[in-house]
Amino acid sequence: MILLTGATGFVGGHLLEELRKRPEVVRCLVHRSRSPELLRGENVEAVQGSVLDRSSLNGPMRGVDTVIHLVAVIREKGPATFQSVNHLGTRNVVQAAREAGVVRFIHMSANGARNDPHFPYLLSKWQGEEEVRGSGLPYAILRPSIIFGEGDEFITVLADLIKKLPVVPIIGRGTTRLQPIWVHDVVRCLVAILDRGDSFLGRETTVGGPQQLTYEQIVDTIISVLDVKRWRVHVPLSIMKPLVRLGERVLPYPPITSAELGMLELDNIAAPDAVKEQFGFDPLPLREGIDYVR
Ligand SMILES: NC(=O)c1ccc[n+]([C@@H]2O[C@H](COP(=O)([O-])OP(=O)(O)OC[C@H]3O[C@@H](n4cnc5c(N)ncnc54)[C@H](OP(=O)(O)O)[C@@H]3O)[C@@H](O)[C@H]2O)c1
Repeated sequence: MILLTGATGFVGGHLLEELRKRPEVVRCLVHRSRSPELLRGENVEAVQGSVLDRSSLNGPMRGVDTVIHLVAVIREKGPATFQSVNHLGTRNVVQAAREAGVVRFIHMSANGARNDPHFPYLLSKWQGEEEVRGSGLPYAILRPSIIFGEGDEFITVLADLIKKLPVVPIIGRGTTRLQPIWVHDVVRCLVAILDRGDSFLGRETTVGGPQQLTYEQIVDTIISVLDVKRWRVHVPLSIMKPLVRLGERVLPYPPITSAELGMLELDNIAAPDAVKEQFGFDPLPLREGIDYVR
């Protein structure tokens, strides 16, 4: 049996659709009871539990041989901090898995995960990886670049801004490179790890889409898919930083947070042929997979 954490999220929802087609039972850990559709399906069950609550994970782990751990917060909110969820939450899941005799732990990390307090999200993803690496469990770690697809945050928020504003702000010089990968391709990688686990065990596998694009090229791609005309204006980081901090204080859901702004200073790329080389298929270019923004 598989225990899937984060099944109600963006990647988890798409992964679950794929896992539904397979014979093995998938048990989904849900920490809020707002997704009854998860309870439907022949081989899918949902159990209540939170990665923040170690004892709530014992029951869900019973009878499980493989854990696919997707849970993370990309934005902090109340007690759900990078540290509590991404680091210590992963520690809780790893401990529960070890005690339950799980034989394989597939862990979703992020490209750029690093031991650097200047990037608190990436630090927490690195600390989560460390918990997995130190667990003694057979593990595989997937590190994707930014993921696009229906339900994503990054491309959808950017597209909404482009639709609303006559002038699109390009943060800093707009030269940071990203390698957006389609969510269905990430799912394909996860399923391949599930099926041919051994070749991915005991290491991190970094993946990205077929193109390394600057932030400005991503904005241009969205503008072209939306078929609109927009001016672009470069806003220096020294101006963006206080604006973003202000937005975080006054807006219920700001378009960008300080942690995200900080990460836009870092390239987020993999080898251009990372997916083809490691998984044997050609991933979808951004331009061909973002019709949902229209
Ligand atoms: N999206 C990207 O571009 C991207 C890129 C690289 C790596 N990743 C990694 O991919 C993974 C999935 O990302 P995503 O974009 O799918 O995130 P997401 O949409 O925010 O989903 C996060 C999931 O975690 C669940 N969750 C949050 N707190 C929990 C808790 N205390 N206990 C149990 N479940 C909890 C959420 O449930 P609720 O919805 O009920 O809160 C949701 O199902 C993460 O590890 C992320 O770091 C994402």
